[in-house]
Amino acid sequence: MTITVNGEALQGDPWPGQCLRTYLREHGHFEVKTGCDAGDCGACSVLVDGSPVHSCVFPAFRAAGHEVTTVAGLGTPDEPHPMQRRFVDAAGFQCGFCTAGMITTASALTPDQLTDLPAQLKGNLCRCTGYRAITDALAGAVNTKKVGGAGDSVGAPAGLRVATGIEQYTMDHAPEGLLYMAVLLSPVPHARIASIDTTDAEALPGVRLVLTHRDSPAVAFSTARHDSRLDDPDDSFVLDDTVRFVGQRVAAVVADTAALADNACRLIRVDYDELPAVFDPEVARSAGAPLVHDGKGPDARIADVSRNLVAELHGGVGDVAAGLVAARESGGAVVRGRWTTQRVQHAHLETHGCTGWRDDEGRLVIRTSSQVPFLVRDELCHVFGLDRSEVHVFTRRVGGGFGGKQEMLTEDLVALAVLRLGQPVRYEFSRSDEFTTAPCRHPVRVDATVAAGADGVLTALAVDVLMDAGAYGNHSPGVMFHGCGESVSVYRCANKRVDAQSVYTNNIPSGAFRGYGLGQVIFAVESALDELAQRLGLDPFDLRRRNVVVPGDGFTDAHVADDDLTFGSYGLDQCLDLAQGALASGDGTAPPAGPQWRVGEGMAIAMIATIPPRGHFADASVSWDTDGDYTLSVGTAEFGNGTSTVHAQLVASELGIGADRVRIRQSDTDATVYDTGAFGSAGIVVAGLAVQSACRDLLAKVSAGGGAPLVGHGRHDGTPRSVAFNVQAFRVAVNVGTGEVHILQSVQAADAGVVMNPEQCRGQVEGGVAQAIGTALYEELLVGPNGAVTTKDLRNYHIPQLADLPVTEVYFADTHDALGPFGAKSMSESPYNPVAPALANAIARACGARLHQLPMTPARVWRALQ
Ligand code: FES
Ligand code: FES
Repeated sequence: MTITVNGEALQGDPWPGQCLRTYLREHGHFEVKTGCDAGDCGACSVLVDGSPVHSCVFPAFRAAGHEVTTVAGLGTPDEPHPMQRRFVDAAGFQCGFCTAGMITTASALTPDQLTDLPAQLKGNLCRCTGYRAITDALAGAVNTKKVGGAGDSVGAPAGLRVATGIEQYTMDHAPEGLLYMAVLLSPVPHARIASIDTTDAEALPGVRLVLTHRDSPAVAFSTARHDSRLDDPDDSFVLDDTVRFVGQRVAAVVADTAALADNACRLIRVDYDELPAVFDPEVARSAGAPLVHDGKGPDARIADVSRNLVAELHGGVGDVAAGLVAARESGGAVVRGRWTTQRVQHAHLETHGCTGWRDDEGRLVIRTSSQVPFLVRDELCHVFGLDRSEVHVFTRRVGGGFGGKQEMLTEDLVALAVLRLGQPVRYEFSRSDEFTTAPCRHPVRVDATVAAGADGVLTALAVDVLMDAGAYGNHSPGVMFHGCGESVSVYRCANKRVDAQSVYTNNIPSGAFRGYGLGQVIFAVESALDELAQRLGLDPFDLRRRNVVVPGDGFTDAHVADDDLTFGSYGLDQCLDLAQGALASGDGTAPPAGPQWRVGEGMAIAMIATIPPRGHFADASVSWDTDGDYTLSVGTAEFGNGTSTVHAQLVASELGIGADRVRIRQSDTDATVYDTGAFGSAGIVVAGLAVQSACRDLLAKVSAGGGAPLVGHGRHDGTPRSVAFNVQAFRVAVNVGTGEVHILQSVQAADAGVVMNPEQCRGQVEGGVAQAIGTALYEELLVGPNGAVTTKDLRNYHIPQLADLPVTEVYFADTHDALGPFGAKSMSESPYNPVAPALANAIARACGARLHQLPMTPARVWRALQ
């Protein structure tokens, strides 16, 4: 059959049942992305005879004789389509993975349709932006400049490449001889594999390799990656003889096609010796509970195998009981309560995946969607007994991460297959894999106690935290420590107590997710404080003003001596004023008409360390090249956090040149010395300081009389660390008849130090608020009685669409951080943290129903009202 694709005839025969998306990509049209393969996300949108379709659900044969236009057919970087230009000028994307589909759909909208974007774009999801920037793009707003330095809204260096579909993401290539991996997942929550028969699978023509636990290196590791591999328990193997959750890997097949590999998986016969399973963390930590990691020794670094404890912490200052007495005796108030949060999925549009092969020198090469390529390289070396010089790991542009790609979920299996076969092998998660086997946000139960005298001064603050780690301990110690850190230490209080346990269960593993535990604990602390303010008859902003830490205070979080945490700057006071002032302006939308709608306002605050603790390292180099331009090499990955733009601005400002003269090589273990990775919002501060010192080294060499080519080198070790702040406020209308919540006004004030790129930073705040509104109001990964995830697609797991979100007003405090590059602080994950409690507080003040459980669905709000 013949299809005309972007004006050229494409001839071929799709296989029976093949969709247009895979057919186009098989023929090199990598600009057609995949986010779901189910018609839910729009990443695969193309035009067929000028009308947008989701090519993943459009049969390829139906395109025969028709004109297909992809985003690459709309325009090129030299001659972009007006819609492509608009997305670049408005900074209409972050990771950009949704952008090809978004632009393709938008290019076909009529002027009338452009006035109804909630309906017209309901088939195109964006997980990063919160949609305001996309709306701006469609309206033709110009939010960026082409050149500029620190403090300017410079557009992304890769802007036109992303908008025209030629920027490469992880899967946008097909090495010669590529083989495909499929993985058999466990149907039972806890079992030993009694036997596994791969005979039929191996006999299937086209199958090259079947891997089981018998093929796995006997080296334990954690899928979580940190600078120190000792941060997480070594409780996982590439393939294990014991399964601990429904969805765990059991076996892998490598075959000539993905379909063959899938079919072969179905031919593997496994006999499971089922073991007792436990799904409730409260039960799991009780005497006599089934043990999830029974038999593991001290080498695994599990806090207590016999109590299913991944990690625990207990500590405090002062005397909480005395603080409660003091509050009561002074006519104050005490609030106690239990707050719970749910499992949430990152739902980055690009799924996890990697491709591995051997290079000409026989080295193992892995091209991956990771946020942490250097840490993946080091762990592959550990697991497979290889030297660093034998492994090359790199990323191209990564299609979103939010912490989910700070895990090694595909690279180890692909490495095992490549080392056995010597041929290129690819393993790409489906959307269903993302929901059923990739780690999610920790579900957390927090018992919070707060007390204050009649003057509103806190006399006691205590949290008792129980986290469900799921079947593996990846990130659980860190999430627990971090969650109980800045949530508590942002308040000055003489009597504090933190007790926390992270507990193994036979549920899907929990892992790193934007905010890293803070969002969950802050939901409890900030809700309790709001109730305390109500009981004391105090304005909630004023209650915070009376109790938050200020420069000169120490950070007492009851359990960690954060010696290197300090006030490089302080803007929390400004953030409180900005958010309160914006709310007082009465902007936003009017409530729906009718007596059943009640209106209320709520707020919450958050503090976050600008760098993860215990070491985060970055190396960078800047070369002055013979063509007169500059090349920046930096290890951190670009996944929509915007670090490449800011790094180019830093070089421009330091060297006094335009950012358009800076080429960037990044996230490649062969291209730079080392970088811990893109997490903990460290890209601007840690990697940024390394970039800054590389520039200064280069300038020193130029001042000493050097000429091109010249290279400057820089390094930063992630210490000392500063703190950043966020204050979120909402006005909401609640329907007391149905429990429905409408957001009338959303305001976030942020202290990001000197804002390096205002448009980009605004986008990070909006995206964080959007993701948190999803968490607060409707997102929830549901599990069945055996722990199996039942919300396996984007149709049943609802992430915010354009129609769901309010515009969030973003304000920045005017501060200059003594510790950050050009006075900047990080601002990627922290905007998420105060959103859920601010919404809960607004709902409580609107209708009197205080929600203690996320998500705050209409049913839950209605029940709380009864
Ligand atoms: S990949 Fe086609 S709609 Fe998601
Ligand atoms: S920019 Fe839309 S999904 Fe990342």
